[in-house]
Amino acid sequence: MEMASCVLLPLFFLSLAVAQEREKQAIPEGWTLAHATYYGGSDASGTMGGACGYGNMYHEGFGVETTALSTVLFQNGASCGACYELKCHQDPKWCRPGNLSITVTATNFCPPNPARKSYRGGWCNYPQQHFDLSMPAFVHLANRTAGIIPVIYTRVECKRQGGIRFTMRGNKWFILVMISNVGGAGDVRSVVVKGSRSPWTPATRAWGQNWHISNRSMLEQGLSFVVSTSDGESRIALDAVPQNWKFGQTFTTAAQF
Ligand SMILES: *[C@@H]1O[C@H](CO)[C@@H](O)[C@H](O)[C@H]1NC(C)=O
Ligand SMILES: *[C@@H]1O[C@H](CO)[C@@H](O)[C@H](O)[C@H]1NC(C)=O
Ligand SMILES: *[C@@H]1O[C@H](CO)[C@@H](O)[C@H](O)[C@H]1NC(C)=O
Repeated sequence: MEMASCVLLPLFFLSLAVAQEREKQAIPEGWTLAHATYYGGSDASGTMGGACGYGNMYHEGFGVETTALSTVLFQNGASCGACYELKCHQDPKWCRPGNLSITVTATNFCPPNPARKSYRGGWCNYPQQHFDLSMPAFVHLANRTAGIIPVIYTRVECKRQGGIRFTMRGNKWFILVMISNVGGAGDVRSVVVKGSRSPWTPATRAWGQNWHISNRSMLEQGLSFVVSTSDGESRIALDAVPQNWKFGQTFTTAAQF
């Protein structure tokens, strides 16, 4: 008995260490296991609009590399604009070879499907971590026939060309500004706005990256913004929007993360 435990106990810990080592190799540090599906067509049609309220992805600078996020990742729109690097994970049948990765921007919400089990079509149910990719993003990683693939993901910096964009939306009773083409962390978490004749005032998230400006007298004012992302970084866009702005217009600024 004495003898046996002397021999077996070290063996047990050795095999535990080996198993833990293998686990570490399986998922690199800083990456998380999730799953991915796709939606829309090969031209990323069907991915326009969406719960982040960006509108046309091509115009917003995201291209076709976009994704919808499940509830836990979407965080009620707080993750809109965030960038993720994804790799197809250890599925030799469907993953394309070559350690490929793709970087996508969160532009939409993948709603839960309570009628379905999470492993049978309810991919975006709580608490699944799931990416519903644009089709071009999906086929970059895997054979389309797969339908669903295991992936690993990590948050990465968003790289944007040109400055932060402010699109004026809404109507004279409800002024909205949609903020896009944001680099760095990418996901705007707070916005403060100042009219040329009004004090600095917080804007509130209406949905996605559409922010509500409560002081309606800003309708006839030039606008400046302080935009902050989830990593605590802030940028000031002074006089980003001229006094004679109209609904539907987009203004690109020099400010960028
Ligand atoms: C795959 O790429 C990652 C970087 O994204 C790298 O750390 C890793 O070593 C690569 N693995 C192989 C097998 O090439
Ligand atoms: C994708 O998978 C299908 C079904 O297994 C196969 O017929 C097809 O050749 C594959 N396509 C590619 C590009 O590997
Ligand atoms: C709204 O803007 C006007 C100036 O046009 C300013 O006098 C007023 O204090 C502002 N209201 C709030 C609540 O900031």
